[in-house]
Amino acid sequence: MLVLGIESSCDETAAAIVADGAKILSSVVASQIPTHEKYGGVVPELASREHLRKIEPVVDEACQRARVGIRDVEGVAVTEGPGLVGSLLVGLVYGKALALALAKPLVGVNHLEGHIHAVLLENKMARLTGDPVEEANLPSVTLVVSGGHTSLFLVEDGRHPANSHPVFNYKRLGHTRDDAAGEAFDKVAKLLALGYPGGPVIDQLARSGDPEAVDFGRIKMKGNPLDFSFSGLKTAVLYRVRGTPLAVEAEQRRAWRKTSESARADELRAHCSPQTLDLIASFQNAVVRDLLERTLAAADASRVDSVFVSGGVACNSLLRARFLETSRAQGFRLFFPSPALSTDNAAMIAAAGYYKLKAGQRADATLTAHASLPLGT
Ligand code: KG4
Ligand code: ZN
Repeated sequence: MLVLGIESSCDETAAAIVADGAKILSSVVASQIPTHEKYGGVVPELASREHLRKIEPVVDEACQRARVGIRDVEGVAVTEGPGLVGSLLVGLVYGKALALALAKPLVGVNHLEGHIHAVLLENKMARLTGDPVEEANLPSVTLVVSGGHTSLFLVEDGRHPANSHPVFNYKRLGHTRDDAAGEAFDKVAKLLALGYPGGPVIDQLARSGDPEAVDFGRIKMKGNPLDFSFSGLKTAVLYRVRGTPLAVEAEQRRAWRKTSESARADELRAHCSPQTLDLIASFQNAVVRDLLERTLAAADASRVDSVFVSGGVACNSLLRARFLETSRAQGFRLFFPSPALSTDNAAMIAAAGYYKLKAGQRADATLTAHASLPLGT
């Protein structure tokens, strides 16, 4: 079954063609980074306009790269939330109209479910092509960690009672009460005038700093210990900068960046003092430690030996290294998507949608966008 996936929940316009939920024939992502870069974050109105401009060419390109005609598509899966409503609506209305015109079935997909399926999809694809990889087994504890979300889920699979097709069950174990981890990376990068998005820049620069230089301490949570909170850490960074030479340095960097639009990492590093690099490395270290410890606690509490990590922040090199070394030391199985499938894409939406379509799920004309669509019980 060929499924067209459409994703427009934030600042990437994406379309993909995936066969049988397991083989990516194409995955096209049009990034809006140049549009939002100067604001240091996504501007919702600009994002919607960019989606409007790009949705049609992106879907066309996905079909061309997959070498399929739009009429060969057998089902349409579109992100219905969570995300920016104006952005979501562009992909959603386009997908709805397309499904109607082609008389093909349509399903709505939760964006977070998409991130979880990125792991399963890539694992299935690798195994189909004969790569000697371990099977990404369920039940698993999945950390979805991105610019908009930081959540832990228990993911289980089962069979649809009527048609015995695979179905997935999600239980939310914890989530962020304030900022998402990626948002904290982006805000710290903005404060220190390092550019947007902040995660990849901080990832690079932190390699030149001492991760133990600043002791931010553990993030304490009242109530559910599997919840997250990153706004306090972000504020702790602000207090270490405000009114100090680091703030002066950041303003100098901001002025320099205006004259040199796309600064390379090594140029940027040359404009950072050792103290700034230490602060960045210590911040990153504190975020990664918190994500790792809560994910381990969730796996322990759920008694599972399989851990998935997905979402933009899953690209972080320290996070990957720490999770990997811990998985080896503690003997749990660990699965990440490749960086291209960790960040927002439509292949993950097509893959999640495939199982819904196979199980007989159909969206009708009432399908609409939901900014805070929850996933799981
Ligand atoms: O999954 P994604 O593309 O979009 C959302 O659903 O939010 O994630 C984007 C987020 C941004 O906050 C970005 O700074 C962060 O992922 N990110 C990273 C890295 N690459 C992207 N954060 C830390 N380290 C990275 N290497
Ligand atoms: Zn995402």
